Amino acid sequence: MTELLHSPQIYGERSIVRKPAFLCHPPERVFPFLETGMAEAEFFRKLRQAQLDRLRELRLALHRAAVHDIEEIESLVRSRYDRATADEISPFDSYRYILFGQVLLLRDATGRLAACVYEAGYDHPDRPSYLFRLIVRADMESLGLGTLLNRLSLALAYERGARSRNALVSLDNPRSLYVHLNKVGSYFTDLLEVQLPGLANHLVSSRPITIETVAGNLIDDQKSDAMLETGAGTTGLKLVHTQDISMLRELMRHQGYRVVAVARKSISVDGAMLILMPTHPVPAC
Ligand SMILES: CC(C)(COP(=O)(O)OP(=O)(O)OC[C@H]1O[C@@H](n2cnc3c(N)ncnc32)[C@H](O)[C@@H]1OP(=O)(O)O)[C@@H](O)C(=O)NCCC(=O)NCCS
Repeated sequence: MTELLHSPQIYGERSIVRKPAFLCHPPERVFPFLETGMAEAEFFRKLRQAQLDRLRELRLALHRAAVHDIEEIESLVRSRYDRATADEISPFDSYRYILFGQVLLLRDATGRLAACVYEAGYDHPDRPSYLFRLIVRADMESLGLGTLLNRLSLALAYERGARSRNALVSLDNPRSLYVHLNKVGSYFTDLLEVQLPGLANHLVSSRPITIETVAGNLIDDQKSDAMLETGAGTTGLKLVHTQDISMLRELMRHQGYRVVAVARKSISVDGAMLILMPTHPVPAC
């Protein structure tokens, strides 16, 4: 029974993966409020405040969704997914997350819905927070809202008592992979191979919520892009395309590699190049 409760298939690992420092931003560059020896609770309080300050600058209003918002959320969903995928996304999910989780909405100055994020906590020893849906209106993309809502929901989940963060991201969605990996510090611990309507191959993210995993794992795009030119060389890292499922399966499931970054320059309609690191020690070169 205990084993079932701790199934790595569900909530993944408790160990902290630190991405290679030579690919990452110094944490205080991204979070100027970060101080040496800062208490974790203080960090997450300041992280939340920084996102709220940014929303004020952007003149966007934040509120928790209510059941009467569902119709508008459904329109946002339909505007961002093709019909077959949108048809698989149920308004009932919205209803459940509104009642039993946290659904945050952003509205622009005219009151129009600009973005949403869904998150819920689970009754499990790891106190996981599961990020379920993140959508930004097409004309509001690239303003940093996807990153902002992801960080905000992470800070709120921490304050509510969550201690691990979990998400599924489609291998066919390099832009979302980019936000999760490079901007929010996630890493992917497992591969979900499945071909069902509305659920294709995904990467599984599972990580403890700590200052190290949130602030210390943010990718410097120039450095990850440079690896495209030079190759992984003697770093011990691997570069694998999102569509190379057999290689991802081999490295992630059989050799203990984790996906830690994406080369931003490589993102195209056909996918992107992922950067993987081993969890076992790499022989010195
Ligand atoms: C995936 C999605 C949520 C990303 O939202 P977004 O608001 O565009 O994401 P962000 O702006 O935070 O991050 C990505 C972009 O912001 C840029 N950016 C934002 N803030 C930045 C900063 N402070 N420094 C550098 N770059 C920044 C990134 O470089 C990137 O820019 P690009 O568009 O030029 O590549 C959005 O594209 C979307 O809704 N897609 C459809 C639905 C979907 O697929 N959802 C995900 C399901 S898991």
